[in-house]
Amino acid sequence: MGQMRLDKFLCDRTGCTRKEAKLYIKNGQVLVDDERMKRPEYKIDEEKSCVFLNGKKIKGDTLVYIMLHKPKGVVSATKDYRDETVIDLVSHMTHKDIFPVGRLDKDTTGLLLLTNDGEMSHELLSPKKHVDKVYEVIASGKITTEEQRQFEQGLDIGEKNLTKPAILDIVEAADTESKVLVTIREGKFHQIKRMFHKVGMDVLELKRISMGPLLLDDSLQEGEARFLTKEEIKQLKELYVRE
Ligand code: URA
Repeated sequence: MGQMRLDKFLCDRTGCTRKEAKLYIKNGQVLVDDERMKRPEYKIDEEKSCVFLNGKKIKGDTLVYIMLHKPKGVVSATKDYRDETVIDLVSHMTHKDIFPVGRLDKDTTGLLLLTNDGEMSHELLSPKKHVDKVYEVIASGKITTEEQRQFEQGLDIGEKNLTKPAILDIVEAADTESKVLVTIREGKFHQIKRMFHKVGMDVLELKRISMGPLLLDDSLQEGEARFLTKEEIKQLKELYVRE
């Protein structure tokens, strides 16, 4: 953050080469805070300077999107006095003020998106948008078509309304333990655990594997993170941006 050479700023934000950036500047195609700037080495303030290329404003604040494979034992908060946070795990990747999009419990693992894009966060979490979240669950006991039916019909977990229809796909069902995939569209506090309690089962392991079009990258080990690809960002934005 802070100060940056004008030619580098142009490269970073528009994807042009350093040579092209220098040419744009020399040709007088670049304005900084309303003045034509002809020095590529001129230092701009990344957050505050207003830079135009060919009359089009270049966004000053970079948006970052990080996929984290959350491990157990860290909390989905930006600050915590006791526990390590998900932000601590990616602090080497960015200095921007990022935050988690929604929360996973301390003992839940899996996909967590971290960003400074408030609009995206709002859109993905809005109950009206119906973004599917898929969780892999190991539950105590044998799951049958009866639980499938109850999840589908909606459960009373002590909220004003029943839970919205959830899909329960059985992967393995033994007498003592079952592995299932659960798809929900809401994100109530401890929702998955409360739904299983309601049908008399405990959640032994909980891992989120997708959120809308975004899938947990299975090459990421627990605790590892990477930036989203352009394609992943585009797919997420397609959920709410109307051209
Ligand atoms: N439901 C839960 O119970 N916990 C989570 O972390 C996510 C969904």
